[in-house]
Amino acid sequence: MPPDSAISTLIDQLAAPATEADAAGSALLARGPAAVSALVDRLPTAPAAVRRRLAYLLGRCDVEGDGDDRLEALVNAIDDDDWKVRRNAAVSLGTLRAASATGALLSRVASEDDDRVRPSLLLALGRTTSPEHLDELRALTLSTARDREAAAKMIDSVSARSDSSDGVRGGVIADLGVAQLELWARAGIAALAADEARTAGLEAEPVSSDRVRIGAGATLDQLQAIRAALFPVVVLRTDVPIGDAAALGRTTAAGLALALNALTEGDVAYRISLDDSATIDGRRAGWIRAFASAADGLVNRATSYTWELLVREDEAGTLVGARPAALADTRFSYRRADVPAALHPTLAAAAVRMAPPHPDDVVVDPCCGSGTLLAERARAGAYGALHGLDRDGRAISAARRNLSGVERLHLVRADLAALDQVDRPTLVISNPPYGRRVGSNRSARTLHQRLDAIVADRLAPGGKLVVFRPPGFGAPRRLQVERSIRIDAGGIPIDLIVTSRPG
Ligand SMILES: C[S@@+](CC[C@H](N)C(=O)[O-])C[C@H]1O[C@@H](n2cnc3c(N)ncnc32)[C@H](O)[C@@H]1O
Repeated sequence: MPPDSAISTLIDQLAAPATEADAAGSALLARGPAAVSALVDRLPTAPAAVRRRLAYLLGRCDVEGDGDDRLEALVNAIDDDDWKVRRNAAVSLGTLRAASATGALLSRVASEDDDRVRPSLLLALGRTTSPEHLDELRALTLSTARDREAAAKMIDSVSARSDSSDGVRGGVIADLGVAQLELWARAGIAALAADEARTAGLEAEPVSSDRVRIGAGATLDQLQAIRAALFPVVVLRTDVPIGDAAALGRTTAAGLALALNALTEGDVAYRISLDDSATIDGRRAGWIRAFASAADGLVNRATSYTWELLVREDEAGTLVGARPAALADTRFSYRRADVPAALHPTLAAAAVRMAPPHPDDVVVDPCCGSGTLLAERARAGAYGALHGLDRDGRAISAARRNLSGVERLHLVRADLAALDQVDRPTLVISNPPYGRRVGSNRSARTLHQRLDAIVADRLAPGGKLVVFRPPGFGAPRRLQVERSIRIDAGGIPIDLIVTSRPG
């Protein structure tokens, strides 16, 4: 069959039941640029079931430079009669960060009367719109709670792209009074984040599994650059229980105002996030009102805030951490494409720090997904070659987008067994499925065991395997365990294990 009619047949199969349609979608994505023009051509006229999938797939195709035709087709599709086509087209325009679609998205969101579509349009605007449109975004009419939630995220993302000095003074060394600077990280990661901060010349000491205390004299810009941490915070510790919102509001204002004023251009505007485990009586909205009316000098705002106040408790009392929400975080801006169960990039950065880089490293991630571990390894120091394998063509497409410009990179759609075709890897670093969110526990365990066996055979003497592994799957056999830490991988406890092959 000539390639064009093969693509056409695959497009027809998008109307089939889910499994067959999924397979056809993956096959189309694997064809890359060759399929894009066919998808664009068919989008206006195909039946609704196919249009829904075409609108989705067009956001995930791997083509160099975003073709105008594709964007035009998606812009037209946000006015489609079918709500799912409109929603998928909006998601795709967001995924593609299609700045040229801003006008069309703005006018669609003003006329869209389907509650299921508006949040996706708002989120897409958050990814496509530049900060000079912020006033227009703030003026949008929002009808439902989901609209308001999506709009808050949208304003957050757009504000974060504004000048890094807008709102928060990232370069200032401020008098913090009784407050202190910390880095907060995913649980289990504090020691690695502290190590990275010290390497960057900062005074840093882990104070719990997810917090690093930073010595005086550091700036927020310096802290924001630490890749293994989630974000910097200006922290106040107090004995006031979380339950007493008004007293906590007063204490927070008294303890944080000096530091936050010194670090803010204009008003100190904040939003509050209460830790899920926080013990409060009654409704959160009432708690926040009581806190806000007692916190003199700090302005509570649902949008356009410069700080997010994260309130949590531990065995020693209450912690209020002010995160500089308006400080741009560009550390992971290479991430243009995603896959289900992608690793949080701060965890990938932490994992890379478990095996110090060597300039001639031959690195393999045999379940590379969207390529986060390879991207972080590429940034950590010189290497010989980077190899990524994944059995899913969509993952390889995503990795290609995220790793564009990375040199000596080889991405192949293949089972992890293809690792035996890489000549003497010195570092295998991977986050294979855990069987919790994707696949079954049994098949995930077997996959990890297969990985161990291949790595033990193929790894260069002295080489290392760094792997994320559910507790209970067992450490890699035939390799020496050097270090194992229990971390929080998005609500799932996972062991991050480093093993080596005796040299
Ligand atoms: C948890 S995800 C990896 C996410 C990745 N670290 C990231 O940040 O995007 C696991 C990946 O393993 C891939 N995978 C599952 N079984 C595989 C196999 N037998 N061979 C190769 N890849 C496999 C899946 O397609 C998926 O992309």
